[in-house]
Amino acid sequence: MRKTIIAGNWKMNANKDSVKSLIGGILSGIGGINSEVVVCVPFPYLAQVESLIDGSDLRLGAQNLNINPKGAFTGEVSAEMIKDFGVKHVIVGHSERRSFYGETNTVVAEKIKAALDAGLTPLLCVGELLEDRETGKTEAVVEEQINAVIELVGIDSFNNIIIAYEPVWAIGTGMTATPEQAQEVHLFIRNLLGKSSENIAQKTPILYGGSMNAANAAVLISCPDIDGGLIGGAALKAEDFLQICRAG
Ligand code: 13P
Repeated sequence: MRKTIIAGNWKMNANKDSVKSLIGGILSGIGGINSEVVVCVPFPYLAQVESLIDGSDLRLGAQNLNINPKGAFTGEVSAEMIKDFGVKHVIVGHSERRSFYGETNTVVAEKIKAALDAGLTPLLCVGELLEDRETGKTEAVVEEQINAVIELVGIDSFNNIIIAYEPVWAIGTGMTATPEQAQEVHLFIRNLLGKSSENIAQKTPILYGGSMNAANAAVLISCPDIDGGLIGGAALKAEDFLQICRAG
């Protein structure tokens, strides 16, 4: 039985005051929630969140990392640096990084390797553009994104990888994939993993992301191959985020 995971991706949204009230709100309602709950926060707020969640069940995540362990890479942040702040999870290959910062499948695979080498659990984001879906390429795109990672780190590494299926057309648009659309791709991903290892396929958590909110979370998460959510906008309001966590 796979545990439900709800991860909030705050993206580039936070200030010290909002962090305090958002984390405070989440902590006040997290008791009794069975899902594993993670907040992936911008780098400058890792220290603040680390101290606010100390001793709680809330887990800390980051949104990116550099592939190199250290050195002359101005402006970049390594796996060891985020670990230093108690980070356990790191988002890798988000569609915004792929589209705005040119991260290819090869770079994404290298970042997954860097995260795994440091003992972090990466959340590997995959998903198709609207034009891919409209031209029947969804499965081919997702397959290529996942195969690039399997080729570099091997199928057994998926023991420590969480996959997030995020159709790009559903991110931040309010156009959630229907439960049928999402379940279809989640099952495709599980079967793809199953070609290399049935055991890994059954164990790997596959989260859905893309306009998931308090109103639609329960029905999405009730699909057999949807193991939780990666939440953007709705993760910025404590009550909405908690309702999604309760749906898990
Ligand atoms: P929204 O929930 O705002 O659509 O964002 C989803 C996402 O990109 C999470 O990584």
